Amino acid sequence: MKQLLNEKLLTFIDSDKEYTILDFGCGSGELLETLSKVVSKNSKLIGIDTIADVVKQAKIKLPKIDFRQEQFINSFNFPNASFDIVISVDTFECIINKESLVNEIHRILKPNGKVIFAHWDWDTQVYNSMHKNIIRAFVAKFSDWQQPWMDSSDGLMGRKLWGQFQGKDKFQGHMDSFSLLETEYKTGMYGYDRLHDLASLVKKGDINSKEYDLILHEMKSLSISEQYFYSLTSFIYCGTKI
Ligand SMILES: C[S@@+](CC[C@H](N)C(=O)[O-])C[C@H]1O[C@@H](n2cnc3c(N)ncnc32)[C@H](O)[C@@H]1O
Repeated sequence: MKQLLNEKLLTFIDSDKEYTILDFGCGSGELLETLSKVVSKNSKLIGIDTIADVVKQAKIKLPKIDFRQEQFINSFNFPNASFDIVISVDTFECIINKESLVNEIHRILKPNGKVIFAHWDWDTQVYNSMHKNIIRAFVAKFSDWQQPWMDSSDGLMGRKLWGQFQGKDKFQGHMDSFSLLETEYKTGMYGYDRLHDLASLVKKGDINSKEYDLILHEMKSLSISEQYFYSLTSFIYCGTKI
């Protein structure tokens, strides 16, 4: 699934060109790995993430990429005009001081550098269901859920990217989108896994267990009768430094 989004993100980058790229909140480095196969071999790829273990694993798996364990609070440890591209997927909602992040990205980009930020808009989750009110409530619960590894959360982050970057005399850009569509309900599929993530909220008492069981049962039945359908949209801001 992530591969499809990564391929979409590649359409914003010229292949075979030499770049210095920062992936902010790079996780296991999948996106940088994909980028490394497309951009010129002399390109410099840097990933930063706050979770030490994730960064350690990424370093072992992809030794040619420069992974650093850093937590963004208000600033980056990079000189002015260091990067051609700053890219980030599904990390912006975790940042408390979003305005500092936008200012810092502007500072570390070279003249005409590019910012490419993609983010799921969790409120766009769609599950086919006959239990309209329950499924709507579940989507809202997921959207508002601040998981332990997040400093902050915003289920509407995808649609807010435009307002965060554009119109502040820093970037000139456009919005794009990527919709994930699934008709298979099994482990490893995004919709299946997100519904099963909600078991944590059932445990905490935030979701009614009878309603949860009803929906799990319905999804299985829909899958058997080939009527299961799930969708989620990621919005993408691609802008150039002014
Ligand atoms: C939802 S994950 C996305 C990971 C990766 N971009 C991907 O799409 O698979 C968000 C990542 O942002 C990292 N993160 C959250 N807050 C951060 C911060 N303040 N500074 C650096 N990384 C942060 C988390 O550790 C996590 O790996």
